[in-house]
Amino acid sequence: MSKKTDTLLSVLKLQPVVPVLIIEDVATAVPLARALVAGGLKAIEITLRTTAALEAIRAVANEVEGAVAGAGTILNAAQYQAAVEAGSQFIVSPGTTQELIDAANDSDIPLLPGAATASEVMGLREEGYDVMKFFPAEQAGGAAYLKSLSSPLAGTLFCPTGGISLSNARDYLSLPNVVCVGGSWVAPKDLVAKGDWAGITKLAAEAFALKG
Ligand code: 3PG
Repeated sequence: MSKKTDTLLSVLKLQPVVPVLIIEDVATAVPLARALVAGGLKAIEITLRTTAALEAIRAVANEVEGAVAGAGTILNAAQYQAAVEAGSQFIVSPGTTQELIDAANDSDIPLLPGAATASEVMGLREEGYDVMKFFPAEQAGGAAYLKSLSSPLAGTLFCPTGGISLSNARDYLSLPNVVCVGGSWVAPKDLVAKGDWAGITKLAAEAFALKG
């Protein structure tokens, strides 16, 4: 396993659930990340779906003790580079392109690339990837589908994301080929809008308790 894969795995193993955040208002980034870290969720994926995202990554990376800031929804090399420059310690993509693989090869910061089919997983294995995001998890076939990949594609680990919540996270976490899950449910829009950071810490702590 490469050093970058080791680094990525050590981040993903910090917690059973990686929060996936869509940050509209950069002012919420630091208190939201602090609330998640207080509940035990240190690795935090901030998606590049808003104009505030890069600034949010920078703020979390610089100001939130204990947080491991990562970038999600990275679709091309320019976004990869911008996310790394902002302080991302890991990069997540919903799928995989050659441009992204090349960007990852040129960077010290590891990529968690997206895959949803056996062929996509096999293609990534040929590029040297042992750890992938399974996306969109529920919609693509859920835990039963992912379980069925564990024997033919043994040795590949996944972070399933998409449609996962407290009620079905264990179905994935109990699989031998799952290292953690991703989800937005720990940071609901209404709690963020209200600034209910204690409520978010509670959701994060519930998610963290899925460990083990
Ligand atoms: C997303 O697409 O936003 C992420 O994969 C998270 O999915 P979720 O909102 O279903 O948790």
